[in-house]
Amino acid sequence: MRGIILSGGSATRLRPCTKVTSKQLLPVYNRPMIYYPLNTLIKAGIKDILIIVAPERAGDYLNLLGSGKEFGVKFTYEIQDKPKGLAEAFIIGENFIDNESVAMILGDNIFEDDFVEAVKSFKGGAKIFAKEVKDPERFGVVEVNSDWHALSIEEKPAQPKSNLAVTGFYVFDHRVVEAAKQTQPSARGELEIIDLHNYYLRLGELEVVPVKGGWLDAGTFDSLLAAQIFAKDKMQDKMII
Ligand code: TTP
Repeated sequence: MRGIILSGGSATRLRPCTKVTSKQLLPVYNRPMIYYPLNTLIKAGIKDILIIVAPERAGDYLNLLGSGKEFGVKFTYEIQDKPKGLAEAFIIGENFIDNESVAMILGDNIFEDDFVEAVKSFKGGAKIFAKEVKDPERFGVVEVNSDWHALSIEEKPAQPKSNLAVTGFYVFDHRVVEAAKQTQPSARGELEIIDLHNYYLRLGELEVVPVKGGWLDAGTFDSLLAAQIFAKDKMQDKMII
């Protein structure tokens, strides 16, 4: 399985702290933010990792992370010219993915869970990871039946059908590349990952897995502050990098 960390974006909600650097390079307690999702991929057994970054920050990522040898893995870098949406990662990553399955994690997502089993047991289709939250309208929301079969999935719904947020870790088979190429930009001008989830849902191949431990994204000042404390209290013994 290949891995992608999506670490571009414009991080407007963290201005001015992100005016001259990337959100995912900001410190979260004692490490740059990207170390946490990177740790998640490496612990899941993924050794071939594509890091997608914004053009103006590419040098900083290369300086920080290098070839991956230090971490026992191999890094490849690609540029995303403009933040045109999460689904664009699979178009940018087409050659890298090369007909393999792929796990993608967002560069600002911090997970307590490890995904070794979820990755090992992946046979095909798509797997998403959902967590109960108090404010589902801020997220992609998945509705499941009593067996956790996906019934519907919607982006930031005004009237959420469940309180299960779709987190920023996803596993897809190689068909995701073609699916991403077929998506059209949404009203906000982005290629939406939810369209990929719906593609697999229509095929009956979307699996939903509960996230048991803590999860947060560090995309706002309040969640970044929460992430600092979470990283100090809950993540230190989970880090292998
Ligand atoms: P977001 O938090 O949705 O977007 P952002 O980081 O640009 O921040 P803001 O909304 O404050 O402007 O992105 C989630 C993650 O995905 C984050 O790690 C950045 C990354 N990302 C990309 O790399 N490329 C993209 O096109 C988008 C939309 C996000």
